[in-house]
Amino acid sequence: MTGLLKGKVAVITGGSKGIGYSIAERFTKEGAKVVISSRNKEELEVAANELGSDCFAVDVSDSKSVLSLKEWLVDTHGSLDILVNCAGAVRYDGIMEVTEEDWDFLISVNLTGTFLMCNKLAPIMNDGGAILNISSTLGLRAMEGAVAYCAAKGGVVNLTKAVALDLVDKIRVNCLCPGVVETPMVKNRIETGQATREYLENVQPMGRMGTPEEVASMALHLCGPESGWTTGSIISIDGGQTAA
Ligand SMILES: NC(=O)c1ccc[n+]([C@@H]2O[C@H](COP(=O)([O-])OP(=O)(O)OC[C@H]3O[C@@H](n4cnc5c(N)ncnc54)[C@H](OP(=O)(O)O)[C@@H]3O)[C@@H](O)[C@H]2O)c1
Repeated sequence: MTGLLKGKVAVITGGSKGIGYSIAERFTKEGAKVVISSRNKEELEVAANELGSDCFAVDVSDSKSVLSLKEWLVDTHGSLDILVNCAGAVRYDGIMEVTEEDWDFLISVNLTGTFLMCNKLAPIMNDGGAILNISSTLGLRAMEGAVAYCAAKGGVVNLTKAVALDLVDKIRVNCLCPGVVETPMVKNRIETGQATREYLENVQPMGRMGTPEEVASMALHLCGPESGWTTGSIISIDGGQTAA
């Protein structure tokens, strides 16, 4: 590792597991002071101990909760350099079946959560900082039976572009759209019989799922000094899924 993020303070939502955990691990190895956040305090503390990072429990869909993180960050670290909005949730229902409760839940965690984190934390970010939002290939293209998730992740894509323009003189803002990545979210789909491993592998022309570490490598590039002219960019990382 080359210390690309030495001395930078990075907050990673959804850092207790899956993609967020791997991003936290990679950023820590690159010298960042990492703060992970998620709702389940017990799981969060276990993850933070493993990583040697700070942690602060937050529900990203609740503005009071996000404001308490902001206050804690100012008291503890003074300011912030990198924000990765990785917290997310998925439920699968089509337009005829989806309930308003499911719609509100998925929009609030995936889209409003990303908005609230940008809205509340951008003011304490240092010039030259970076925000990375995690959307999905389902933010770029639709799939049947996932209407609320597709809408929420599509919102994250255009939210990224709008925020990038608003912050263009201060902070770079980009978005990653992963295909199917083998995380607890996806393992749960397999274990509960919602999808087979073979199906999830073959959604990608490369014939396999991505690893959280592969997403973390791209996250490092987009949040580090080697992507200084990249902002408002929406980048798929998906084994060729959106090329097909
Ligand atoms: N895995 C994939 O195939 C895939 C593909 C495309 C995009 N994505 C996106 O990538 C991101 C990470 O996915 P993953 O597969 O790593 O998911 P995961 O394994 O289920 O982890 C989700 C993380 O988000 C946290 N979280 C959920 N709701 C939250 C809330 N309201 N406030 C704060 N934290 C919350 C969870 O902790 P708590 O439950 O304790 O809060 C956990 O740390 C998500 O945005 C997901 O939509 C994943």
